[in-house]
Amino acid sequence: MTQNKKPNIKVLYDEKTLADQVERLAQEIAVDLPENVLVISILKGSFIFAADLLRAIHRAGGTPDVEFITLSSYGHRQTSSGKVEIMRDINTDVKNREILLVDDILESGRTMAFAKDLMYARGAKNVRTCVLLDKPHHRAVDIQPDHKAFDCEDLFVIGYGMDMAHGYRQLPYIGVVVDDDDNDE
Ligand code: IMP
Ligand code: MG
Repeated sequence: MTQNKKPNIKVLYDEKTLADQVERLAQEIAVDLPENVLVISILKGSFIFAADLLRAIHRAGGTPDVEFITLSSYGHRQTSSGKVEIMRDINTDVKNREILLVDDILESGRTMAFAKDLMYARGAKNVRTCVLLDKPHHRAVDIQPDHKAFDCEDLFVIGYGMDMAHGYRQLPYIGVVVDDDDNDE
């Protein structure tokens, strides 16, 4: 489906709900956040969440460094062949660093587990994880987020950084595409 077709989108989390939860999450994270923590935003999906979270962490008194890694997971909807690749790497040495990995969604867990293993393999001292949405229905790897904003139903969501066929990342809210037939409006 392309954006030109103007599908009906049902809002799941509106702007106010997202802002309130991101603020709450930042307060939770800031409680025991190391001074020199390195926040690593996993692109592309987490770019809006990470930008909002970082500013909320600042308001909560945190002083993080920031990095970005672009990971691509192929076949993450299949049960066995999910493979994560580094499309663009960080250029900071993580040896002995405290890391907070930030992603939009934890679904199979492969992306986050890959990033966590990678940072430990590179000598990180401690790696914590933070996601906007926890979708546990198709978990393939034994991983739980240390911090999360929402438990999400088993739905394909778009907006607030998350895409469907490269579109909709710009939506300021999170929603689901509703078929015309299912929509009363
Ligand atoms: P996984 O945990 O490795 O299965 O993959 C999580 C990644 O899959 C997320 O970072 C998203 O990029 C993508 N993803 C999973 N569910 C959705 C969704 O509902 N909408 C958009 N992207 C999704
Ligand atoms: Mg992603």
